Amino acid sequence: MKELINSIRIFLIYRFYNIGVILERISNKGFALDIFSSSFQNNPYKTYSRMRSINPIYHSKPTFLRWVTKMELVQEMIRDDRFSVDDRKFPIAKLRRNELRRDGREIMLDQFENPSILKLDPPDHSRIRKLVSYGFTNRYIKSLETEINDTINQCLDKTHNLESFDLMNVLAKPLPAIVIAKMMGLPDSDLNQFQTWSENLLKEVGGIGSSVKKRRLARDAYEDLIRYFEKIIIERKDNPGDDFIGKLILAEEEGDKLNVKEMYGTCLLLLIAGHETTTRLVGNGLFALLNHPDQFECLKDDHSKIPNAIEEMLRYEPPVHATVRFANENMTYRNRDYKRGTPFAISIAGANRDPEANQDPDSFNILRENIKHVSFGYGPHMCIGANLARIETRLVFERLLERFPNMKLGDKNPDWQKNFIFRGFENLELKV
Ligand code: HEM
Repeated sequence: MKELINSIRIFLIYRFYNIGVILERISNKGFALDIFSSSFQNNPYKTYSRMRSINPIYHSKPTFLRWVTKMELVQEMIRDDRFSVDDRKFPIAKLRRNELRRDGREIMLDQFENPSILKLDPPDHSRIRKLVSYGFTNRYIKSLETEINDTINQCLDKTHNLESFDLMNVLAKPLPAIVIAKMMGLPDSDLNQFQTWSENLLKEVGGIGSSVKKRRLARDAYEDLIRYFEKIIIERKDNPGDDFIGKLILAEEEGDKLNVKEMYGTCLLLLIAGHETTTRLVGNGLFALLNHPDQFECLKDDHSKIPNAIEEMLRYEPPVHATVRFANENMTYRNRDYKRGTPFAISIAGANRDPEANQDPDSFNILRENIKHVSFGYGPHMCIGANLARIETRLVFERLLERFPNMKLGDKNPDWQKNFIFRGFENLELKV
């Protein structure tokens, strides 16, 4: 019954949304942002550019969001503490609370009320982020390199004698989950279960038309992972190991330490923030590269260009397309008035393609100089795992170019997933 009601609710929301898009088109000389349309899904960049030219803070009524698509504004707003990430404070939180209560999701509700750093403003954000950073020192992340390289080789060994394979299933999906599991010192016997949870977890984030079943899988995985991390942290508390969880347990700043809830929230955040993103960077980056055969040849001949190529991949097809901020107070910003709680879609992908930030922004060029992108965010919430993601992706490209020098894309063009927060593929066939 609950599922039927949910399905009806989703159906009605889409109907209202579609009417909103039609009205926007009528009032806007034929233009409307339609995040559910296949043209937006296939090429959202055209839409970002159109919105930027109409208004760099474009009000899209059907999505209830102001879309910010200009680099200068994106960087300014992310740094400005009049914009908040903490959705608990605003009227929109009521919807989330009611939904989680209706769904009987006590653990998720508790996490909503006690969020991880991604959803915290200062001073709580600064306090916890400082302690979490103990697990992300450059030296520690660099020390993982050999293990990451071995994991990539083990994944690719499974393609021995194959003429074609799906890069996402063979490498891009499992790798980041395995790396995070190893980083946390999780037992090998838990690895399969951990990977399944990790994949299910993201089935509802930003997903367009996520089915009720997918949502249930994602929420079950969320709660199972919280229970799992809580148990591991409690077991290890008096005898911390030399891994990320051990570093969290030992982290101390002027007598301040993380409590168990903050620790398991952080562990879950690492999966949410670090798995799907890295998966998509590998897929999106390789797709762009193989669509530019001259650049593929250039990279194959000179691996020292891989780090710059990865920055261009991040700029050109970022795994995270948007993040959200709320007006913290009634305010005037850039000559417009906004009410407290007004939500803004900070368009990372729109900013990366702003011609004032990067010349000729719609062309892919691995030799581009002074690449400007905000694909790892900016300011206080800037990605804490950026170095790890860069190392993983560099090693992936080194091994792929070395082992499959003649690789090509499969015959069928892959489908972009229906998701306006993350951009990527479910499958990417390679002929080797
Ligand atoms: C290509 C891969 C990645 C991309 C594109 C990416 C992107 C981002 C972005 C855009 C943000 C900022 C969100 C905001 O301002 O609202 C962020 C934050 C964060 N990322 Fe990443 N990320 C990646 C990989 C990782 C990895 C591998 C980890 C850890 C294992 C990680 C952990 C985090 C954490 C903990 C935050 C929150 C930081 C804070 O709120 O202070 N990310 N990431």
